[in-house]
Parts: sequence; C-alpha cells; structure tokens
Amino acid sequence: MNDMTPTREQREAKLEGMGCKRKRVEDARFTQGKGNYVDDLKLPGMLHGDFVRSPHAHARVKSINSEEALKVPGVLAVITAETLKTVNLAWMPTLAGDVQMVLADGKVLFQNQEVAFVVATDRYAADDGINKVVVEYEPLPVVIDPFKAMDADAPVLREDLAGKTTGAHGPRKHHNHIFEWTVGDKDLTDAAFRKADVTIKEMLSYHRTHPSPLETCQCVCSFDKIKGELSIWGTFQAPHVIRTVVALIAKIPEHKIHVISPDVGGGFGNKVGAYPGYICAAVASIVTGKPVKWVEDRIENLTATSFARDYHMTTEIAATKEGKVTGLRVHVLADHGAFDACADPSKWPAGFFNIVTGSYDFPVAHLSVDGIYTNKAPGGVAYRCSFRVTEAAYCIERGMDILAQKLGIDPAELRLKNFIRPEQFPYHSALGWEYDSGDYHTAMKKMMETVDYAGLRKQQADQRAAFKRGETREIMGLGVSFFTEIVGAGPSKNCDILGIAMFDSCEIRLHPTGAGIARVGTKSTGQGHETTWAQIIATEIGIPADDIMVEEGNTDTAPYGLGTYGSRSTPVAGAAIAMAARKIKAKAQMIAAYKLEVHEGDLEWDIDGFKVKGLPEKTMSMKDICWAAYNSVPPGMEPGLEAVSYYDPPNMTYPFGAYICVMNIDVDTGVYKIRRFYALDDCGTRINPMIIEGQVHGGLTEAFAIAMGQEIRYDDEGNVVTGSFMDFFMPTAVETPHWETDFTVTPSPHHPIGAKGVGESPNVGGVPAFSNAVNDAFSFLGSTHIQMPHDYWRNWRAAKSLGVFA
Ligand code: CDP
Repeated sequence: MNDMTPTREQREAKLEGMGCKRKRVEDARFTQGKGNYVDDLKLPGMLHGDFVRSPHAHARVKSINSEEALKVPGVLAVITAETLKTVNLAWMPTLAGDVQMVLADGKVLFQNQEVAFVVATDRYAADDGINKVVVEYEPLPVVIDPFKAMDADAPVLREDLAGKTTGAHGPRKHHNHIFEWTVGDKDLTDAAFRKADVTIKEMLSYHRTHPSPLETCQCVCSFDKIKGELSIWGTFQAPHVIRTVVALIAKIPEHKIHVISPDVGGGFGNKVGAYPGYICAAVASIVTGKPVKWVEDRIENLTATSFARDYHMTTEIAATKEGKVTGLRVHVLADHGAFDACADPSKWPAGFFNIVTGSYDFPVAHLSVDGIYTNKAPGGVAYRCSFRVTEAAYCIERGMDILAQKLGIDPAELRLKNFIRPEQFPYHSALGWEYDSGDYHTAMKKMMETVDYAGLRKQQADQRAAFKRGETREIMGLGVSFFTEIVGAGPSKNCDILGIAMFDSCEIRLHPTGAGIARVGTKSTGQGHETTWAQIIATEIGIPADDIMVEEGNTDTAPYGLGTYGSRSTPVAGAAIAMAARKIKAKAQMIAAYKLEVHEGDLEWDIDGFKVKGLPEKTMSMKDICWAAYNSVPPGMEPGLEAVSYYDPPNMTYPFGAYICVMNIDVDTGVYKIRRFYALDDCGTRINPMIIEGQVHGGLTEAFAIAMGQEIRYDDEGNVVTGSFMDFFMPTAVETPHWETDFTVTPSPHHPIGAKGVGESPNVGGVPAFSNAVNDAFSFLGSTHIQMPHDYWRNWRAAKSLGVFA
C-alpha cells in the first residue's frame, strides 16, 4: 500500500452510503427554482378546465344552464354529469369500496362539490365561463354534526344507496351509516372492566383537518386519438395505481396509458386518491382532442379534496389501583363526509386504528368503529399518517394521561409500568398486530434523563404553588407522549389497494463505467428519495451514491409499485432496493471469481469490491466488475449487470418514539409558549440522519399546527369557515417552536437493512405531546380533558370555564 492508496475509512466515506449525512441531491434543482412541476408543463394547444362548485352543502340540483357560459370568448365546452353519463363516468369508484359523483348528479352533498367543468383556451376564460353557468338549487336540510347523522329523523344523504342494507364492509344500520368494524374480544374486555379497581371513560375528538401541501392537486391529460393513448402528468403519490384505476374505469388498455408524476410539492396523503378533476380533464381531452390542464386553487384544495381525521373516540381504560392496565375499550364515530373515499388498504375500513393499544401490554381490548355520512367533503386520507394511526396514538396517549391523573400517578411512570417489555417482542397485541421489535424503556428513560424530567416536574409544582398564591398568571404543562407506529403497508396477506397487493419494487441497472440508474415504484413528494435510495445501493454494492441516479414516477419506466404514503417507502421499497442490489452483488461475485480465477466461496465482500480470503492484495472493485459485466463474463452467463426486485414485506415495521413538550399558558389571554420540545425517534437502521432530522422537523411542525389550531370547521349550514390560509392555521417559521431531536436504534428484524419508516412518526407522536401539555397544564385546576385544537381562544375559554377569573 503506497501513500496514495485510500484507507478503508476513505473508501467508505467516498460511497456516502447508509448512516452518512449526505446532502440532498434533489435540492440542487429545487433551491434554484429549477424543479419541474405539473403546472410548469405547457403543451401546444393546451386547454384549461375549472369547476363550477356548489355553494350549498346539501341541495337538489334542479337545472344547469350553460348557454351563456358557452358564449364567453375562449370557452369551448361545459361538461356536466349528463355529459359524463354518455361515457359512463358520472360516478367513480372510491378506494374504500364506495362510489362518488364526479359531477353533481341530481343533488349536491357538500359545499364546493364539483357541479360542472368548464373547458376554455385559458384559465381566465374558464373562470369567466364558470360565472355564467346558471345552476338552480333547492336547498335540503344539512347534517354536519356526526352525532346527529344517525338520528332516526336525520335527512337521507345518499339517495343512491336507498334500500341498501349492506355496504363494502358489511351491514349498514341506518341510511347515513357506512359500516361497523369491530376487533378484539368483547366478552373478555367487558369482564376486565367489571373486575377493574379503576376505570376511565372520556370522549376524545380528533377534529377534521387537511394535509394542505404547498402545491395543490393538479394534472394535464393529453389524449392522442391516432394512437389511442392517454398521457397524464399529475401530482400523484401512487402513479401506477392511478394508471390501473384509469384503465379500469375509462376502459383504455393499460399499456396505452402513460402516467407521469414529475416533481411533486408535498403530498402528505392528499395526493393518493383520484379526484373529479382528473376524470374531467381526461374526458375533456378525449372530447376536444387537445391537452387539458386542471389546477386546483387553495380554497378548492382545502374544501373539496381529502380531509383528514374527524374521529370521535369514546375511550375507556380499566386498571388496577397500582396502575397496571387490564383492558381497553374504544368506540369511534368516524365522520367520512359525503362519500366514503378513505384512502386505506381495501380490507381496513378504519385503517390500522387497531394499533390503539399503543406501546402498552393490554391483556384484552375491544374496538368498534362506525363510519357515517355527513354533508362534508369526502376523504379520510392518511395525513402524514399510516391509515388512522395518528388518531389511535392520540386516543391511547390522552387516555393514559387521563388514567394517570385519576390514579394520581406520574404519566411517565404509568407508561414505564405498562410498556411492552423488550423480551416480549415479537409481541402479539390484543387487537391483532405482531410488533416486530422495540425497546421502549430505554427510549423513555433517555428522554426523561435528557430533559431532566424530575427537575421539570419540580418546576411545575413550584409554578402551581406560585399561581395559587397569585404571584403568576401562567400555568405550566408537561406533555409526555410515547407512540408506537405501524408502517410499511404492507404484507400481501392483508394489504391491497383495489385488489393489488401492496408490494414495492426496484430495478437497478449498472453501466459499464460503474455508474447506474435505479428506478423505484415509490414517488418522493419531498422526502429526498433520490438521495437516500442511492445510499442504500452504495452500501450494498460499493458504488458511490453520487454515481447512482434515482428515478421515480414514470409508469412507463419504473417497475410497478404502490407509491409513497404512510411512511411505507423505506419499509417496503427500501427493502426492494436492498434486495435488487443483493441480486446484482451475487452476479458480481460470479464475475469477480471468474476474473480472479478463484472459487466464488473464496471471495469476501470488502466495502467497494471483493477480495480473496487470505490474499488481501487480490481484489476486484465493483467498478471493474461493471466493466467486466459488459465484455468478459463467465462462459454461459448473460452479459450486463441489472436486477429487479418486487418486495412483499413479511410484516409491518413498528417505529416508536418518546416525546415531551414543555409549555406555559397565560390563563388571562390563552396565549401559550412552547418552552421546549424534545423528540426521540427510533426508526431502526438510519439511512440518512440529516434527512431523518428534516422529516422529524417537518412532521413536528404539522403536529404543532394540528394540535394548536389547524382545523377544517363548518357552520351549521355546512359552510366551510376555515377555507383559506387566512383562517386555516398554517405555521410559518415565525410561529414554529425550536425542535430538539434524538434517537435510539432498534433494527427491524425482518427488514433486509433493519430500517423502519420515519416520515410520519413526528405527526403521530407530536399531536398527543402538545395536547397532553395543554391538558396537563389545566389539570391542577380540576380539568380532565380539553378538546383540540388548543388555540388561544379555546385555552382562554378553558381557563374561564375552570373559574380562574374573579
Ligand atoms: O414513505 P415516505 O418516504 O414518506 O417515508 P419514509 O419511508 O419514512 O422515508 C422518509 C425519508 O426518510 C426517506 O428519504 C427515507 O429514506 C429517510 N429514512 C431514513 O433515512 N432512514 C430510515 N430508517 C427511515 C427513513
């Protein structure tokens, strides 16, 4: 070895593989304004479509008159449900087994529902056309309160379902009922409650909110009449699924549909489903023979596409007087809006809500969920959440705090007493999951030591004493949250979307010079896949991450994958990437053995190539193997170096975390100050610590927004009163607290690289930490539970109701 020979550390550093804080390669274009988004696309002759929307939340549509609209210069067509009926597209299937109107067919069921689609030469002309479409409505009684939707005399919302006593998920109990889903052992759970020393019962509402990505939902559809091919550029988190859905409902052969997701400006679950805009733009393109663009505006995005949450959870916990939990009983009233368009895997009408036993060793549990229709926008998307896990984590984490308060035990102590112990993994939960791995006690204790939990409790006691003496008007809350996530949907045995198993995929092709391309079935919407996927490959096969180009989002070139949402990319596609890389490595080993004239078994892997065991100077680098793969492979072997993997995960992965929020609230104004927020995450093997930190910062910011003010709120007539960023809380850097992040590493035992997902963890764990902090602050004034969101006004109102003003 001469001085120029790189050391092992230098060779490893050059790869920028897993564990490296590699800078995000995609940021070179994003930070220079050179991204390529749907709205950047301008095709020759392109038309623009825009919607006439309903001002009413529930009304019969008596007539639609387009005459004047068609006279507006530039307006070419006005599409209504009657037009769509001629091509059998007036209604479309939802991911949840329901059907949804594409355009109002006889009635409207929520405010801003799509009524007609105006197609024009530019967006302004389309907008002028919208104002000239005359729609005659007959208002009908509105159901907004989910607790009233199943009253005997509640108005019938879905007349199309009249007489249907069974839906996609079993029997319907009422004309506004969608499904009832039950899990767990009711008799054993009821018995545990009868025997319990202590029980709590509280209705915990997780209000309706919205993912609101920076870029709204949009598409460009271009139908080539000669070839019979439809190209769709769209903001899709799951482009392959969109292709299949279009093939099924538009009856265009799937190979003649090209779906491309270019750069996407945030998804957070909002861009998983199919929306009327996509169907109308496609039909408009087929009818006019021209490309048609549809771009939602902010108000349309907030009010008409895919809300999240709206779960009302009656939560009961049974425990011994020493604080050992003995049973959990939860009933959820799930408000799905006008159509059941929840984006969950097919067999899971309430997503993975049955992770509601959380991180605790509940011997028995029972869960029932009633899905119902109301006059609100459809959706129920996994807003930075793995299918209702966020709701479940909120439910159990508030429940544990309420139990701690009743027992007079510290909330952190109560959690430590009830955690699933490390030796219990793999752990079978009372509601049916097999947790793959975890070490909750270590994480919790690390959090408590780092923030000096005991010291903070002492400070709180002092502050409370000072408050009682009248020396301060501020109260202090400590919000502890310990969450277990379930990500990586999912194993084909229980996860599919419209019958397609939820595997994911990767194809790697190495070129002669040792560079290559990896195409993956996922679609980054900002998570940095172009950076991290190359890091997995770098570590697996010793090619520097910089020499691997990652491509996603083009259904013609990427292998079929189920897309990106629910932090499934790393657990599923990340595994496919490692498996494809290992197939390449196996072939590379045969080539290296041939070239080095040794038996394959005599070779061992060494960072970026193979070396002969016992003869360290006899080596062949991966770069040289790439060259050899194209000119001198062993006799009988096909040339080239590429591999594909479709990975069907054997189980979900179960990341977890310990969070704490320290907050002061001024009781006279309701104004809160987040004094400290510490988040410890365990996502198994860490691919890129810097990207993980970024994911945690982003998710915590969303959690902060949701817990402290963000809400889609309706008035009694069904008007959305938080339909723009003027009134829908969207925190900027000014309001956002400072985040402290930390980690432990408990690898997943079944994932090829031991990684679990992380993107949504901070949203899942963050919301209960904030809410517990507010509730902990008010608890000493006699409060048990204050519903979210905890904005200044509601904090002030809570203080008032607790009698703190003279
Ligand atoms: O599905 P999605 O990409 O939203 O979520 P994810 O799988 O949690 O990944 C989010 C980002 O964090 C990706 O760039 C991952 O590669 C990265 N990540 C990581 O570096 N290490 C992990 N153990 C998990 C995710």
